[in-house]
Amino acid sequence: MIAPNKIDHLEILQYESTLITTTKTTKKKIIDTRWTHTTPSGLLPCSTTMESAGAGAGETADWRFGAANPALAAAGSQSIRAIVTRIYHCLDGSDARPVAPLAHGDPSAFPCFRTAPAATDAIAAAATSGKYNHYSPAVGIAPACSAVAAHLSRELPYSVSPADVVLTAGCNHAVEIMMSVLASPGANVLLPRPGYPLYASRAALSGLEFLYFDLLPDREWEIDLAGVEALADANTVAMVIVNPNNPCGCVYSRDHLAKIAEMARKLGIMVISDEVYDHFAFGSKPFVPMGVFGDVAPVMTLGGISKRWMIIDSIVDYRAISVDPVTFVQGALPDILAKTDEAFFANALGVVKEAAEICYEKLKEIDCITCPHKPEGSMFVMAKLDLSSLDGIEDDVDFCSKLAKEESVVICPGSGLGMKNWLRITFAVDPQLLEDGLERTKCFCKRHGKIKEAGS
Ligand SMILES: Cc1ncc(COP(=O)(O)O)c(C=O)c1O
Repeated sequence: MIAPNKIDHLEILQYESTLITTTKTTKKKIIDTRWTHTTPSGLLPCSTTMESAGAGAGETADWRFGAANPALAAAGSQSIRAIVTRIYHCLDGSDARPVAPLAHGDPSAFPCFRTAPAATDAIAAAATSGKYNHYSPAVGIAPACSAVAAHLSRELPYSVSPADVVLTAGCNHAVEIMMSVLASPGANVLLPRPGYPLYASRAALSGLEFLYFDLLPDREWEIDLAGVEALADANTVAMVIVNPNNPCGCVYSRDHLAKIAEMARKLGIMVISDEVYDHFAFGSKPFVPMGVFGDVAPVMTLGGISKRWMIIDSIVDYRAISVDPVTFVQGALPDILAKTDEAFFANALGVVKEAAEICYEKLKEIDCITCPHKPEGSMFVMAKLDLSSLDGIEDDVDFCSKLAKEESVVICPGSGLGMKNWLRITFAVDPQLLEDGLERTKCFCKRHGKIKEAGS
């Protein structure tokens, strides 16, 4: 079987069909293997062709592979990238304006969000040193685990042991592993809504039941703790929190985290704390790691360098369970953590804070969109659509599809995150393009706004 070389933007691939034909001329079997992306809008085929010699004309081989995997299809249906890809397909290629990409989670494309020179130097030095051309132990190489343990310990009331650190190939990989580790028969996990859909995808794929608790927009997107308690049962093993939060842009206070820990203790469950946006906190609340409450309830912290260092591709992440992230990047990790200067972080935070401000202020100018809480962290904000003031827009997906087509602005519909008729807007974009994209969104809303009756 030949795997596709590289398929950009395709998150969940499904081995969809196998077509076997016998050509008269070559007498070879041509096997057309189609890897497809399970998107709601249809399939994105990427074909490879494999020829296998040997079987004669008329023979039918009993190929045992190629059957659809329903669990994978179910997991794929939860994919945020599937939905965003669908919105990208609505773009009108003839529009000369630059696309305003307000749906992504990868700021590294913009010069104002380039990674720290110390990080690229460390990676280049490790790659050329010849010292890291070997396989890594499954948990990560010792110097990298020690560096991560020391890095995390700086903010905790106790020391993390290197033995408690396991390196993964990206925080996403840590999510995958956690969901499969927790999937004992009958177990369930509690996930936030709105949330980061990979948790549900990976739980579904692992046969782990998942239930949603709400984040409360009118309480700064805090967790509905009473809702969590009501939802948990004897089979609940863990709850997931994301702090700073994607998609809501909130940061949890120390007090709220303490309450979460107390509740987890009462319920006898683990807290999986996704802190991939750690330190992306630019409002009134500082970032507090959930690990601070590790003596109250068991905490598994997932984090990484993909956001704070803006080294996307998730080469190495830390703080969970994994196998074999790229060894030379592990080799670079001690220097990445130690040598990146505070000025880099301060600058990145300043740019994101300014972008959040622009985003919030521009959204206020748009009548049909309300933002219940000014973003204080991460790179995202959730905003509510008022469909009653729009003409001919069915729902959030329709809104985003038409916006992409007419204005070349790509926004993620809230449906993809469990919040129908909401929007998730990324502000980690070049500030000029962000402003321009939101101005175009405003024009779109005006054009589609219901005509108000005189006097109303
Ligand atoms: C909440 C959350 N967790 C995990 C990830 C994945 O992180 P990584 O790029 O390190 O795999 C993302 C990426 O957008 C995210 O938003």
